[in-house]
Amino acid sequence: MSELDQSARDRASDETAETARAAENGNGAETPPHRTGLPVVGSTVAASRAGPTFTERLAARGDLVSYSAFGEEIVAVFDPEVVETVLVSENDAVRKGEFEMAFGDLVAPEGIAFAEGERWRRQRTALQSAFTPEKIRGYADEMVANAATMADDWADGEAVELGDAFASLTLRILTRALFDLDFDAERGAVVREATESIGAMMDHFGLLSFLPEWVPTRTERRYDRAMADLDALVDDLMAEREMGSGEETGRDDLLSLLVAAADAEATGMDREAVRDQLVTFLFAGHETTATALTYACWLLAGNPDVRQRLDAELGDVLGDRDPDFSDVPELAYTEQVVKESLRLYPPVYALYREPTESMALEGYRVPEGTTLQLDTYSVQRDDRWWDSPDEFRPERWSSEAGASDRPEYAYFPFGGGPRHCIGMRFAMTELKLVLATLARRVEFERVTEKLEPSMGLTLDPGEVEVGVRKKE
Ligand code: HEM
Repeated sequence: MSELDQSARDRASDETAETARAAENGNGAETPPHRTGLPVVGSTVAASRAGPTFTERLAARGDLVSYSAFGEEIVAVFDPEVVETVLVSENDAVRKGEFEMAFGDLVAPEGIAFAEGERWRRQRTALQSAFTPEKIRGYADEMVANAATMADDWADGEAVELGDAFASLTLRILTRALFDLDFDAERGAVVREATESIGAMMDHFGLLSFLPEWVPTRTERRYDRAMADLDALVDDLMAEREMGSGEETGRDDLLSLLVAAADAEATGMDREAVRDQLVTFLFAGHETTATALTYACWLLAGNPDVRQRLDAELGDVLGDRDPDFSDVPELAYTEQVVKESLRLYPPVYALYREPTESMALEGYRVPEGTTLQLDTYSVQRDDRWWDSPDEFRPERWSSEAGASDRPEYAYFPFGGGPRHCIGMRFAMTELKLVLATLARRVEFERVTEKLEPSMGLTLDPGEVEVGVRKKE
């Protein structure tokens, strides 16, 4: 499609009017107001190409707004109370649904992130033991040591692309901590290529769903190759651990747990499910955290006052040593920086659910099978809950600032309810320890002045380059 066609379509999409759809159903309640989109493809083009501005435009139309995209009827949710209802109080009335599964099928359909019901519950219970506070304590040194090595290897004045740097770092930390393995560059590259090829598939998702399935696109071929390489890698990992596992090694990391769980009745995981769990953790555990670190460091680079306060805290708490796990509760301002970065740029920018039966939300009727899009990005920037919502102000998280009258689900970067992020404690510990370790060694200067995030696998910041200045 030419640039011209595209912009004409975007314009058409912008100009389409909101049609309050009074389609009544059974009990008289209306479905949420509908934003009409383009002929045939609904709002697919707008939704797949645009960054967060698309959902910001939707949010301006109400707390629940429906639109058609990706061949689905979607209801975007901008009200924290409704987010809480869907994730927490009525979580039994929803499932991940078709829209999520279309993505799940690309990645790891049998893994915990996409399982449902009793199957999901058994998997969650089995995997939870890799994320206890005691286990996280054991991973902390790995987080600090890897961050220190990365910063020590940077040359003074070097320009660093943060996305790549942090993807390698978080993948190294994850595989050391959870799999007790050193990933060499080749294995790292297999996971990165798989991640990027899935991202590329998602870019084309909306458009592909209107092409005949047999059309072989370059993107699909790239994806097929990358997933074959990933499967071979996962097979190797499992085989190596099966051969070397057992009581004699005394290992109790996530990989050993998964290998032991294969075919075990209590966990409900067959070998395919175990393969999918490994893939789930490789993805969920590194891309999200890398994205969060990228935004946090770029924000620090552009906010010298915040940086100064952070340095002051690190000086007070750590003096001239690196942090360890026992410092984590003392790094209060570091935590505020992390939370504020996750507010402005939530790596998981929306969650999707599907009612199993017609559901009443805020006086509207949401029919069974509709995709509910809980819009993390827009809710976390809504000026009803946040003063100067687009400003980076870590201080808003201090206990004095008080947030008592803000609804709890005005902030949900890790989701909520029973399916909240299983790696949340791991991620928060990693983010704080890595930031503290880096900030002791280097200052960042912005090379990339402006970010234009787009909705990819995570909230994709694009290329983010900073200059690195070594401290003394
Ligand atoms: C900043 C980093 C991270 C963010 C923002 C994040 C965000 C999220 C969110 C929002 C969900 C809920 C999805 C939903 O309800 O549909 C989730 C689920 C999940 N996350 Fe994370 N995550 C992060 C890091 C991690 C890490 C480090 C791991 C593992 C080591 C991990 C593993 C998972 C898994 C397995 C699930 C699925 C849980 C289930 O369905 O029971 N995440 N994450």
